Amino acid sequence: MHGGRGWVLAQVAVTYPIPGGGIARLSARHDVRVHPDGASVGGAALADFVAGAEALVPLVSNQVDAGVFAACRGLRVVANVGVGVNNIDLDAARAAGVWVTNTPDVLTEATADVAWGLVLAVTRRFVEGDAVMRRGAFAGWRPDFMLGTGVQGKTLGIVGMGRIGRAVARRALASGMRVAYTDRSPVPDGGRDAEFVPRLDDLLPRADVLSLHTPLTAETHHLVDARRLRLLPRGAFVVNTSRGEVLDEAGLAEVLAEGHLGGAGLDVYQREPAVHPALLERPDVVLLPHLGSATWETRCAMADLAVDNCLAILDGRTPPTPVVEGRGDRGRGTGDVTEGPGK
Ligand code: DGY
Repeated sequence: MHGGRGWVLAQVAVTYPIPGGGIARLSARHDVRVHPDGASVGGAALADFVAGAEALVPLVSNQVDAGVFAACRGLRVVANVGVGVNNIDLDAARAAGVWVTNTPDVLTEATADVAWGLVLAVTRRFVEGDAVMRRGAFAGWRPDFMLGTGVQGKTLGIVGMGRIGRAVARRALASGMRVAYTDRSPVPDGGRDAEFVPRLDDLLPRADVLSLHTPLTAETHHLVDARRLRLLPRGAFVVNTSRGEVLDEAGLAEVLAEGHLGGAGLDVYQREPAVHPALLERPDVVLLPHLGSATWETRCAMADLAVDNCLAILDGRTPPTPVVEGRGDRGRGTGDVTEGPGK
């Protein structure tokens, strides 16, 4: 419909009051509806909310499944507020000719900080130490009190050397760790001081600390399971800031209970927001509530980039960060259908 301001108003559905100025920018041009608290709305309820809209701006916690694409025939773009797009049925988007975009780069450093923070938190027992202080159990300095594991000279094994993997590698190298990584192929930039190990099963026995940075796909679901965790050296640590489903949580609980691992640091969970109950009981596991990108600056940048993508498609321009290219007059693209870049 014509908005009387010289352009055509599109209906835009935003599932949450995203931070920053993005909603104001969208509203200045289009007819925007914002769900007051739709962070976990998915499936049929999401389809109802999106009905009639040409653009959807969801969070990584909204499941945009095939039913949404089938029900919302006018949809032209799904502009995810997040780099991971495993919450969106990409095949259904392709089949429906709907653009999908994501928010790479802007959250790389924030997420790498959390991954590296978890490495230090688990190896140096920060959370256990905090608990000691709060229950008044600190009796004064002793040479053998609450000793952790030093990372210097040890090997950080990185699974998935995308932007975030490389940013974690930089932090580890600066702290005196060695870095080895696995990926589909060697990574030219950022892999300079890191050793490429083609097979995950060959990387694991060498990793004193393992950090996961692969996107969640059918191939990476439970990529690191109990069998693979047992390939790590005894006393190794595992950190996951990618997606919960990449790590088999029950397998982790099992291998921790066997005493094979030194500990784990998790920011993401298989059935978020639930956590495997056995992990909640363990002092050698540090648990964060999906804080990887949780800085004010980063979340505003993610929301702004999602809105840039959305506005570009609605204007018929190429979006800055496409994952799936839509069809026809839904926007101009490069002609390639691309998967999202690794996290
Ligand atoms: C993402 O963007 O995929 C992150 O997980 C959000 O923190």
